[in-house]
Amino acid sequence: MTTTPDIEHPRTIRSYVIRGGRLTTSQQHALDHYWQKYGVEDVSAPLDCAALFGRDAPVVMEIGFGMGDSLLAMARSNPDKNFIGVEVHKPGVGRLLHEIDALSLSNLRIYCHDAKEILRHCVADNALDTVQIFFPDPWHKKKHNKRRLVQPEFMQLVRQKLAIGGRVHMATDWVPYAEHMMEVMSAAPGYTNAAGAGLYSTDADRPLTKFEKRGQRLGHAVHDLIFIRTE
Ligand SMILES: C[S@@+](CC[C@H](N)C(=O)[O-])C[C@H]1O[C@@H](n2cnc3c(N)ncnc32)[C@H](O)[C@@H]1O
Repeated sequence: MTTTPDIEHPRTIRSYVIRGGRLTTSQQHALDHYWQKYGVEDVSAPLDCAALFGRDAPVVMEIGFGMGDSLLAMARSNPDKNFIGVEVHKPGVGRLLHEIDALSLSNLRIYCHDAKEILRHCVADNALDTVQIFFPDPWHKKKHNKRRLVQPEFMQLVRQKLAIGGRVHMATDWVPYAEHMMEVMSAAPGYTNAAGAGLYSTDADRPLTKFEKRGQRLGHAVHDLIFIRTE
């Protein structure tokens, strides 16, 4: 499995840090044995989704799936859709590979690489039905805010990859990030807010994530934003 850093843009600001974190025996086993089966190795070639999944179906991409709880649950309960997870954190990738194999899921595949690169190089324009960004790293300190994944340029890249009518679903438990997301998305050309201008979604249908549970324990309010690509 290659987890090459951003070769073409060495000074690009990253939205993540590779955390040390030891792999459990089961995560290492899954990486060694199931990556070939469920991982997508080539991070520079365009992806043929129909060939990868052996069928044509709406494609949902989750960026930064962490330990993969919500992605796994959604793939299980939506067998009519194809799911692609993108994550740089190897323990999470190992964990999800283990679960995919245990459940013999045929509609979920994984990239272990920077999602910005994957979108740029591997995903065809208009190819995605949905992009999910659940609890992206909040980068609390002001001097780190520029590392936040949700930025005007990145969201235009996402728009380019979404089909017209496709949607991007974001969630965060950090109020300043929710406000930042709302500001970026409300000003972004080619999107409309599914909940109405300036409003957060109150009927967002998604499973709880690990990070969200942590936020709940800390008493954080959760905000969901759903925007539709209109043009
Ligand atoms: C705060 S965690 C949330 C994980 C999960 N969505 C949850 O709610 O439990 C954010 C995750 O995004 C991943 N991430 C951040 N930037 C990324 C990028 N550019 N490409 C892929 N993954 C990224 C990090 O590695 C981290 O696991």
